[in-house]
Amino acid sequence: MNILKTSFAGLELENPIIIASSSRTNSAENNLAFQMDGAGAIVLKSLFEENITLQESSLSDSSDQFGEGYDYMRNYIRSHNVEDYINLIKKSKELCKIPIIASINCYSYGEWIDFAKTIEEAGADALELNIMGIRSSLQYKYGEFEQEHVRIVSEVRKNIKIPIIVKLGANLTNPAALTDALYGAGANGVVMFNRMYQNDIDVNKMEYTTGHVLSTESDLATPLRWVGIASALNKKIDIALSGGVAKGDDVIKAILAGASAVEVCSAIYKNGNAWIASAINRLYEWEENNNYESISEFKGKLNADSTEGFERLMRIQFLKYFENKK
Ligand SMILES: Cc1cc2nc3c(=O)[nH]c(=O)nc-3n(C[C@H](O)[C@H](O)[C@H](O)COP(=O)(O)O)c2cc1C
Repeated sequence: MNILKTSFAGLELENPIIIASSSRTNSAENNLAFQMDGAGAIVLKSLFEENITLQESSLSDSSDQFGEGYDYMRNYIRSHNVEDYINLIKKSKELCKIPIIASINCYSYGEWIDFAKTIEEAGADALELNIMGIRSSLQYKYGEFEQEHVRIVSEVRKNIKIPIIVKLGANLTNPAALTDALYGAGANGVVMFNRMYQNDIDVNKMEYTTGHVLSTESDLATPLRWVGIASALNKKIDIALSGGVAKGDDVIKAILAGASAVEVCSAIYKNGNAWIASAINRLYEWEENNNYESISEFKGKLNADSTEGFERLMRIQFLKYFENKK
């Protein structure tokens, strides 16, 4: 089965299918099942920066009630959140042989950065930073959010030695340039892209509702484009594609575009763990049919390095596409 091996962000994987962070990866027993069902690696459910700060701010509303006990309560809540997470890492590492990637969901530079060291000490094989946010202030200076990404990675890198993976949002001006800057700051891999919480509006009730939680195949187009561009421009940093991987063929597309691996979530929610084996079988079959003996032989074959790839990935093709649509 060597033909499925890949490396991502310094981690050696038996195959390129990484189970993306979600509630499904919040239990060591589930993670063992993912391994037994063929996963190449697992990203644990994120420890949310927001979780910690929210719990603290709701507590600060009651600081009068707790009086001198406030600081104690605050530290208690924080240490218990972190303690649960550390136990998840330790237990997943005990049960699983495949790489276990811890995850912190953050949106700003802050004291949560100290947690990175604790996560490394708990035995995580790598740390994924899911840096998501919306900057909507009219005083916003372009590029500030991107600079925040770089600052976060530089600071975390000072604290830990394990690989750092940055999971990007799709709302960035130039993910390729940012990927390059993150590599300079010490990141070993990036994930393109995270899925934002989706809003919808109920026109009858005239109120907001939650949009589609799970992705569909049509979500694949955006990450496919940026993986194709970024993988051609910086060959030193590894990229995992996430978003809209619905079938085994989508894993092949991701690798052809230049990804070293995929992070899959919705397909598992929709089809169960059996999806992993079906995707692996398809990848195996496709490689054999096309006489490839390893993933590295076709990784990036259709990225922006090729003339066709470059033209296809650039905007001008949109014009032709719309002109031809009668
Ligand atoms: C129910 C659910 C929970 C998720 N929780 C997290 C999370 O805690 N941390 C994170 O980085 N991403 C989280 N994600 C995003 C996924 O890891 C993944 O990047 C995204 O859904 C795109 O992949 P997909 O198209 O295969 O679903 C979650 C997604 C879903 C649907």
